[in-house]
Amino acid sequence: MNILKSVTYITLSVSLLFGASQQENKQLQNIVKTGQKSSMLLLKTLGSNMKRNMKTGGPMQALDFCTQKAYTLTEEVNKKLPKGVTVKRISTKYRNPANQPQGSEQEVLVSLEKLQSLHVKLPKQLVQKVDEHTYKYYKPLVINKQVCLKCHGNITNKKLKDAIAKRYPQDKAQHYKMGDLRGAVVVTIKK
Ligand code: HEC
Repeated sequence: MNILKSVTYITLSVSLLFGASQQENKQLQNIVKTGQKSSMLLLKTLGSNMKRNMKTGGPMQALDFCTQKAYTLTEEVNKKLPKGVTVKRISTKYRNPANQPQGSEQEVLVSLEKLQSLHVKLPKQLVQKVDEHTYKYYKPLVINKQVCLKCHGNITNKKLKDAIAKRYPQDKAQHYKMGDLRGAVVVTIKK
């Protein structure tokens, strides 16, 4: 059983323990499935484009891509999702203020950061019931590739550092290390 499956399994077993009905379990399963699909679509879309730009033009071109396209590509992914489903990236230390966590998303992220500081291995996914009709699926994003540090670590490339400072004067998304929690992908599912 892979970790993703076992976490889903744990979520479902816990809900069974607490007496969730079969119908609720089925609903939870569907939410997890929609969350996995939507978050993967966003991460794959952003990741493959970033890789291509990095390869052809290095970090400066990749930065242009992130600044100009990350947001519109996210909107394009959203257009492909079923009605009532939206996906976005959030971070407590955001670069683009549009990626600031909203409402209880902030508390979820802070709780994950707290768990990580206690050396708790983070789950691959979480589901939050916001109200009767709204669920949020979270996929924690950990800095797991050296390339992330080029733009989110201690930036050594002066040209890159200056360009980031110019475009994001309030940037909080630097000085990360490998293994740090960078943020999360959030899929909001409204029934
Ligand atoms: C070439 C520079 C560059 C690299 C490399 C890079 N990023 Fe970013 N990242 C950015 C920029 C610029 C933004 C802001 C995009 C925008 O304006 O929407 C950003 C935004 C983000 C966000 C959204 C939250 C926020 O701070 O606004 C996350 C999450 C993120 N990056 C994670 C990663 C991860 C994980 C990696 C490694 C796989 C990575 N980044 C690699 C430049 C980069």
